[in-house]
Amino acid sequence: MIGVLVSGEGTNLQALVDAGLPIVAVASNRADAPALRRVANSAVFDLADYDTREERDAAMADWLSDEGATLVVLAGYMQLLTPAFLDRFPDAVVNVHPSLLPEFPGLHAVEDQLAAGVSESGATVHIVDEGVDSGPVLAQERVPVLPGDTPASLHERIKTVEHRLLPKVVAELCAR
Ligand code: GAR
Repeated sequence: MIGVLVSGEGTNLQALVDAGLPIVAVASNRADAPALRRVANSAVFDLADYDTREERDAAMADWLSDEGATLVVLAGYMQLLTPAFLDRFPDAVVNVHPSLLPEFPGLHAVEDQLAAGVSESGATVHIVDEGVDSGPVLAQERVPVLPGDTPASLHERIKTVEHRLLPKVVAELCAR
């Protein structure tokens, strides 16, 4: 059973939904995340409502666990997770990221790759640890960077791959 964390548009969440994967709950750090409109069962855990990040993460883990989640997918979730969350789902938190990790981690991966002038980018799905987009890589696929690419055009090309790669890896993890 899958819990999903989102902060933004939720196109990767939509790909998981469309793949028919067993999503039981979706949590976000942002009440205004458009992703929340894509599912029925969602909750918001805004850092501003808690004294510490650990308290917020523990509350979010409690809720996902109560809803039946045993695997957690970060689908455009833009905050670091503490052990208060990660220890509740050992080796069962996965993330999708728009670069060929370990190259270009962080919040601005697409812009950073264009600024660096790389000729190749890609999408990575990996197990989450306490670092920034670090942890063992489960799957990776390359996409070309084309002349005239903008952050939007490159990100769109990468997302097309993400929408195929993420549901495939998550389905494999569910079948474990
Ligand atoms: C995706 O491209 C995902 O790889 C990226 O945010 C986007 C979310 O799009 N995640 C990260 O950068 C994590 N460091 P979405 O909300 O449309 O799925």
